[in-house]
Amino acid sequence: MAQVSVRKVVKAYEGGVQAVKGIDLEIADHEFVVLVGPSGCGKSTTLRMIAGLEEISDGEIAIGGRVVNDIPPRDRDIAMVFQNYALYPHMTVFDNMAFGLMLRKFDKAEIKRRVDNAARILDITPLLERKPKALSGGQRQRVAMGRAIVRDPKVFLFDEPLSNLDAKLRVQMRTEIKKVHQTVKTTTIYVTHDQVEAMTLADRVVVMNGGIIEQVGPPQELYHNPKTRFVAGFIGSPAMNFIQGRLEQASGALRLALPGDIYFNVPAERTARYASHAGKEVTFGIRPEHLTETKNLDRPNVATMTAVPEVTEPMGMETLVHFKINGAEICSRVDPSAPAQPGVPLALAADLNHMHILDTQTGRVL
Ligand SMILES: Nc1ncnc2c1ncn2[C@@H]1O[C@H](COP(=O)(O)OP(=O)(O)OP(=O)(O)O)[C@@H](O)[C@H]1O
Ligand SMILES: [Mg+2]
Repeated sequence: MAQVSVRKVVKAYEGGVQAVKGIDLEIADHEFVVLVGPSGCGKSTTLRMIAGLEEISDGEIAIGGRVVNDIPPRDRDIAMVFQNYALYPHMTVFDNMAFGLMLRKFDKAEIKRRVDNAARILDITPLLERKPKALSGGQRQRVAMGRAIVRDPKVFLFDEPLSNLDAKLRVQMRTEIKKVHQTVKTTTIYVTHDQVEAMTLADRVVVMNGGIIEQVGPPQELYHNPKTRFVAGFIGSPAMNFIQGRLEQASGALRLALPGDIYFNVPAERTARYASHAGKEVTFGIRPEHLTETKNLDRPNVATMTAVPEVTEPMGMETLVHFKINGAEICSRVDPSAPAQPGVPLALAADLNHMHILDTQTGRVL
């Protein structure tokens, strides 16, 4: 059993700065959880407190049901992989992976069994006799993961393990890490600032911001049902569009009034949800893929609007169209065959089935 519980955990550094402001998080056995958020939001601090490398100022952390607040890192039965994985240059790959086990006085046959098994999982068996300098960046990263796997810990902790790799290798190693987890099923907590990495790896994503947890959920849920403006804007690329507007009653129906005389009728099934905000300023949120060339106009809750593109970016499978509404940068994703050209008015369809309305003051999604 290796669930991890983080209860009301606070980290205050000298000078009173709270890097982590009382977070709660329950991680299940075998789960792969990714902490994601902008630089300085407290991801590494949280991970290091779980590892025991950083003392906690308040609250409680339990691993496998045992409170570990006062247990030193080496007795927590965790293995950590960092961005700077620092292999021993004078040792072979085998010895790099075996070293931690030798220090712990494992017998030789058991060490060999574990290293061979980890090498097989990571597909580095032919490299076992090489020194690190004869390895590529991706191969070194695999050895660093191998060092963690041979320990057979209760929990893997990763802190931005792929940020030293180039873009292509990063995507490849991301898949490798997912495969390894599917094989060994060890509970994993993974820190990254890259929302794509978070979405693709995680069973559940934890979005952090300024020392608090904004939202926890499976990737699809965070994408489709963000609860705050921060999560709505952080998850997804290109990011969700936000436009300031007003909800108003017009001839008995609720509609959204946006700058430039754009009026969208609120879908009937949502009017009860927004009714109490009639007459108030709100923020309209819509993802670029729900603002697209005019199609599906016969479907309920799909409305048209006209945009004058400033820039168009052909991506191959789609074209990104950038324009402004009342100063706000808006991005739409259209089919490459759509007649999108800078300066030429373009009809777009907004799929309001996927829109979000936010309380502008609180940033909560209504
Ligand atoms: N030893 C320290 N003393 C004082 N403040 C610190 C210390 N370590 C971290 N902090 C502060 O705590 C906050 C959280 O830092 P943390 O390293 O957890 O961020 P992060 O989310 O991992 O960011 P990044 O993506 O840049 O790695 C930051 O504001 C940082 O400046
Ligand atoms: Mg960090």
